[in-house]
Amino acid sequence: MPGLVEEIEPLRAEAIAAFQAASDIAALDRARATYLGSNGRLTLLMKQLGSLPKEDRPAAGKLINTVKADLEEALARRKEELSAEAFLPKLPTDFTLPGRRRALGRLHPLTQVTEDIVRSFRKLGFAVADGPEVEDDYHCFEALNIPPDHPARDTQDTFYVAGTNGLLLRTHTSPVQIRVMKRQQPPVRIIVPGRVYRRDNADATHNPTFHQVEGLYVDRGVTVGDLKGTVEFVFKELMGPETRIRFRPHYFSYTEPSFEIDFSNPLTRKMGKEWLEIAGCGMVHPQVFENVGYDPEVWTGWAFGFGIERIAMIRYGITDIRLFYENDLRFLTQF
Ligand code: DAH
Repeated sequence: MPGLVEEIEPLRAEAIAAFQAASDIAALDRARATYLGSNGRLTLLMKQLGSLPKEDRPAAGKLINTVKADLEEALARRKEELSAEAFLPKLPTDFTLPGRRRALGRLHPLTQVTEDIVRSFRKLGFAVADGPEVEDDYHCFEALNIPPDHPARDTQDTFYVAGTNGLLLRTHTSPVQIRVMKRQQPPVRIIVPGRVYRRDNADATHNPTFHQVEGLYVDRGVTVGDLKGTVEFVFKELMGPETRIRFRPHYFSYTEPSFEIDFSNPLTRKMGKEWLEIAGCGMVHPQVFENVGYDPEVWTGWAFGFGIERIAMIRYGITDIRLFYENDLRFLTQF
């Protein structure tokens, strides 16, 4: 009776569609009974196995069992979906409709600056990545070539988490470079805005937590020229079209060559300086590529990091970093 075997596949498709179409648990239960219940359609097929010629029975039985297992799995999956949905608030279905205007309140100036930075890098094809604020020594220091005796690792400079095997609060966003590269193959084009921690006592320009943006670009044939062009584009967008930048040679253990970036515009002049230091950067060190399993003979890249508070302070003429964290409405409502 080949008819029986031919019914199995269409029945599978029909049952799965019925499970998917069930819009609540009760409907799903009914669909289950229709196909898998004691008088269900698959169950009835099973009961007819005996009527097949003896030599056809094993294959047909196996097929029915596979389909039964598939249906049970589809059923379980749909059940999970429906139970999760039951807890979700009922949302409007058209997510593309414009949002309502904020009726009350406004974005914190650091959020505004971060969003501007992200928007600008997105125009150049950068995606936003993030990583944990509680890091380990490997990602924060070792994989970035930061030697064991480097002062950044000192307990005077880093918060270590008591009772853990060397976990710490990340002192910069650079460990996310390592995490992203370990996870994906080039090309990589990311920025990482995020909170960082250092054992600085709070004064007008330091705070034990602040924010950075990390950037990383890895591909074939990437040059310092690309780095300079990118930084220039973004800083002109952030700080105005008259903004100029310059690179000064510097040292970072995870880049070679390394630079500090200065910029100059009417804002720096207002602060009495022609040039202000704003970021660190360089070409990703071949050893860092080795550490993440990229071939440094094939891939080249650059990275940079800068402080978000510093950008906001210059942009808005703020002289005390602590104002950002005090939530004083007289300060916040100015932005
Ligand atoms: N991590 C550095 C800091 O916190 C900033 C930095 C410098 C990041 C050079 C980089 C880089 O990616 O290439 O001061």
